[in-house]
Amino acid sequence: MLQNIRIIQAEKSHIISMAKLIAKYLGTCNIQSSDEDILSRNIAELNDTFHFYQIAIDEKGCLIGLCGIGKPQNNNDYGLNIGTHRDVLYVVVDKPFQRQGIGTKLLKNCLKNIHDYPVLYEAWGEIKNGDVNSHQMLAKCSFDLLADLGTSFYKNHGYCAYCVNKDNNCHACYCKIYIYKRFNV
Ligand SMILES: CC(C)(COP(=O)(O)OP(=O)(O)OC[C@H]1O[C@@H](n2cnc3c(N)ncnc32)[C@H](O)[C@@H]1OP(=O)(O)O)[C@@H](O)C(=O)NCCC(=O)NCCS
Repeated sequence: MLQNIRIIQAEKSHIISMAKLIAKYLGTCNIQSSDEDILSRNIAELNDTFHFYQIAIDEKGCLIGLCGIGKPQNNNDYGLNIGTHRDVLYVVVDKPFQRQGIGTKLLKNCLKNIHDYPVLYEAWGEIKNGDVNSHQMLAKCSFDLLADLGTSFYKNHGYCAYCVNKDNNCHACYCKIYIYKRFNV
């Protein structure tokens, strides 16, 4: 299967399908009435950031995964004193293609281009799944756990504006911050 998958640099023409893939899997707790808003928000964000992304496409040229690492930042949303760093933007692989090494490959490819600052990854996961979704992928990519922000981070930061439980004391999701420091200067 993996031999039919190509990993390429994202281009402007990929923005809509990238936005759809992100909307399908992230920040969409209660998407029924709000999917248009989420899609528009993702498109606007990707218009500025698409050039940071690597994407995976299948033999028909359809987008099946994406990963991006952003520009250097001095501040972070997590109250951590880590100085200048970069952030992993999104990592998503479409369901039928998950668990075949594509997420790991995309993230490793993006990391290959980073030679200056540590890279932070905000890992999300539902408590019912036992840990953040990406913990095994992060271990394979040499990330270390930096901070466990527990189950109140997303609620306190109103992360998912569309979550049905946002105002109801929802603690259904974990947030853990991982760091990658093995870049070669
Ligand atoms: C997390 C995600 C990007 C991983 O991509 P992937 O291509 O499936 O990852 P890989 O095949 O490289 O898998 C790496 C390891 O992670 C594990 N894994 C993959 N998806 C997982 C999930 N949803 N929950 C728990 N473990 C998962 C795999 O089992 C694999 O370990 P193994 O091969 O030793 O069993 C993908 O599952 C996804 O897009 N999920 C939905 C969006 C998401 O949660 N993104 C991360 C937000 S922080």
